[in-house]
Amino acid sequence: MSNWLEVAKLDDIPRLGSRVVRTDTMEIAVFRAADDSVFALKNVCPHKKGPLSEGIVAGHTVTCPLHNWKINLEDGCAQGPDEGCTHAFETKVDGDIVYLKG
Ligand code: FES
Repeated sequence: MSNWLEVAKLDDIPRLGSRVVRTDTMEIAVFRAADDSVFALKNVCPHKKGPLSEGIVAGHTVTCPLHNWKINLEDGCAQGPDEGCTHAFETKVDGDIVYLKG
């Protein structure tokens, strides 16, 4: 069973930036793209665990700050030729509230 969890206000997430949400077990990076769509990934790069929340957002990708892998914000997977995925969470925005599917 899944629940929608309220995690942030949209305005609290900078456009082309992110906000880190901490749960008991992990950090989740919540990103806001230029088009105001919102994505959430486990804050761990699939390469060597770089903090994706500190990466650069362009379009619907984030570039890892450590070795510049480009990670697709929609599915959490590295773009070729690199391989690997981090967990992507489903998100929704209702009014100015951002929710994650937990
Ligand atoms: S840890 Fe992210 S590219 Fe290496």
